[in-house]
Amino acid sequence: MIEVARDGAVAVLTIDRQDALNALNVETLTELRDRLRELADDAGVRAVVLTGAGDKAFVAGADIKYMSGLGPDEARAWGGLGHEAASLLETMPKPAVAAINGFALGGGCELALACDLRYASSRAKLGQPEINLGIVPGWGGTQRLARVCGIAVAKDLIYSGRTIDAEEALRVGLVNAIADPVLETALEVAHGLAEKAPLALAAAKSLINRSPAALGADAEEFGALFASADTKEGLTAFLEKRKPEFRGA
Ligand code: CAA
Repeated sequence: MIEVARDGAVAVLTIDRQDALNALNVETLTELRDRLRELADDAGVRAVVLTGAGDKAFVAGADIKYMSGLGPDEARAWGGLGHEAASLLETMPKPAVAAINGFALGGGCELALACDLRYASSRAKLGQPEINLGIVPGWGGTQRLARVCGIAVAKDLIYSGRTIDAEEALRVGLVNAIADPVLETALEVAHGLAEKAPLALAAAKSLINRSPAALGADAEEFGALFASADTKEGLTAFLEKRKPEFRGA
């Protein structure tokens, strides 16, 4: 099941299927996709934290038992569902922060990669072990891991299927920082982001996520922000030496 808790303007999504190390089956992944859709559209939510229940796993991947019975068409649909969830994290107009509290393997690592920021507990283990099952990352990991860590690291991890610890994940840029307790740090970061100007943050996210071919599009987005009250407020507050109050308009 997926638990959604609100902490002010921050929503915390917890994936809870602890008897399978929070591996995602159809029911859990569908519920995650649906909750992400709601949070993406909820203007009262300014940042989202994604984590796993318990102290062992963030998400140990897609459910291997379920996948073992799939034919190609069903597997395509299963890949599509994972893509929907990952794309929502990547495109929602607010930051998504992964609090990686244990195993983040396969689809779990891919969901973390779709978040804007990743924090890992010192006991976290990350990787794309799909090759060991005779498959490849199916929820965007090949592209997102290469984008986040570079092609050489993506090829090392995806070809070898090896699992890395938090220290190595930090060294290769897969996580932003190691923190214990990790949820506390992720929440602190999310609350800090929730205080920023929402429109500017959404524009920054959308621009950073664009391909290099979109270079130059920032001038358009930059200009459009000047129609918003928040941009005026941010600029004025600086000049008036006070803290800005952003309203999302
Ligand atoms: N799917 C289904 N069940 C899983 C699972 C998964 N991905 N990962 C763990 N579990 C289950 C185990 O089967 C076990 O259940 P039972 O007690 O009923 O046997 C339970 O969770 C606990 O797991 P372990 O006993 O194996 O725990 P461990 O501490 O010895 O090992 C582990 C932990 C190294 C994470 C090991 O469970 C493991 O290797 N899991 C599989 C990881 C993996 O390969 N993930 C990628 C899946 S493919 C994918 O995600 C495709 C994609 O791109 C979408």
